[in-house]
Amino acid sequence: MTNTFPPGFLWGSATAAAQIEGAAHEDGKEDSIWDAYARVPGAVANGHTPEVAVDHYHRMPQDVALMKRLGLGSYRFSTSWARVKPGDRFVNGKGLDFYSRLVDELLDADILPWLTLYHWDLPQALEEKGGWTNRDTAYRFQDYAAAVYDRLGDRVQHWTTFNEPLCSSLIGYAGGEHAPGRQEPRAALAALHHQHLAHGLATGVLRELGAQNIGITLNLTNAIPDDPEDERDVDAARRLDALWNRAFLEPIVLGRYPADLLEDVAKYRFEEFVQQGDLEIIAALIDFLGVNHYHDDNVSGRPLPENARPSLRPTDKPGRSPFVGSEHLTFPTRRLPRTAMDWEVNPDGLRTLLVRLGREYPTLPPLYVTENGAAYDDEVSEDGHVHDAQRTAYIRAHIDAVAAAIDEGADVRGYFVWSLLDNFEWAWGYNKRFGIVRVDYRTQERIIKDSGLEYARIIAGEYAPS
Ligand code: NOJ
Repeated sequence: MTNTFPPGFLWGSATAAAQIEGAAHEDGKEDSIWDAYARVPGAVANGHTPEVAVDHYHRMPQDVALMKRLGLGSYRFSTSWARVKPGDRFVNGKGLDFYSRLVDELLDADILPWLTLYHWDLPQALEEKGGWTNRDTAYRFQDYAAAVYDRLGDRVQHWTTFNEPLCSSLIGYAGGEHAPGRQEPRAALAALHHQHLAHGLATGVLRELGAQNIGITLNLTNAIPDDPEDERDVDAARRLDALWNRAFLEPIVLGRYPADLLEDVAKYRFEEFVQQGDLEIIAALIDFLGVNHYHDDNVSGRPLPENARPSLRPTDKPGRSPFVGSEHLTFPTRRLPRTAMDWEVNPDGLRTLLVRLGREYPTLPPLYVTENGAAYDDEVSEDGHVHDAQRTAYIRAHIDAVAAAIDEGADVRGYFVWSLLDNFEWAWGYNKRFGIVRVDYRTQERIIKDSGLEYARIIAGEYAPS
């Protein structure tokens, strides 16, 4: 094994608008569904909101300077729809000004802007018209994509339509733990299809306007049957794989929904949402696939054992399940170390996933790991540093896994660590820290953690397999 990265391999870090910007009601920005949801008592831990976040909106030049110090080749960020087209009524020039300044600042620092159009923050005004259950939202998204391209297309080359549509459809509309907090399986399936349609429509308009690098980021998993000898576990893994991976990969890459998924969700009459011609739109050519991966899923179809997590994510409230037609899945604990999110640490899962994707979908475009990282309860030591040895080890091990996948033939062109900064971790509020840069939420002071310093060394070419 040579463990070297190909020339031009992109080293980056990622964030998302609602998680870092703050300025939630400034310069014409209106509520997104996350602003509204965070005001619902009990929705977000400790009543935290994205109102101020890490104040990136006001500290952007300093944050770009930090990126430069780390040596980032690329910065993955998202634009806020509610800032650019607040209430979806008109294009807000001031909102676009912010992103225009950000892009200029990045280019001046020799950092490639990697823009995502949807990282979960739908304008609340559109949610009030049905949100993603309303087919029209897909067309509104196409208009929003065109507005952003119109302003930034002369400088931004890499366009991602959606980040993790699984979360913004199934977890937002069926799981109930993400905005808008609905718990209606059929609505979640409508949202899933309409987000696919929105991806296809936006891809079409971006291409027409001249974009050449268009992709989507999916959160993909390895669904592992807890007991490979037990048919119930094997079927549970198949169902999870259908809903989690193939419900997204197949329409986009192959222009169809998986037949077994359609059977699993038959009782929700999913096909009624799919109109003639939709799948051709959805299967529009993409130039890259972003892969977000943090952990695998060990799954069982047996009745809930004592030590099982009752549902998908640790924040799930009892009785809530993001699963649609895939009820009765459980996640028995394996003997693996865990992060502060209670997620397994198993870097080899990333290698397996990347290799498997290329083999199972030979027509896939190049892959970029657009998110990978870990939350730990780190602290500032007396010496003023953050010695986050566990995160450093996590990141190193996963970068080794990417190198190993490349050695095995996976076409991976970049890696983005999640996240540049500690930030608003959705339903967990500010309690979970993923940053390679620490943020003091009282003073907004930034400190590069040891993991950030190590990442800078890796980027500088000092990578050696651990
Ligand atoms: C994926 C999401 O894209 C990001 O917003 C989130 O913070 C990380 N996972 C960690 O949960």
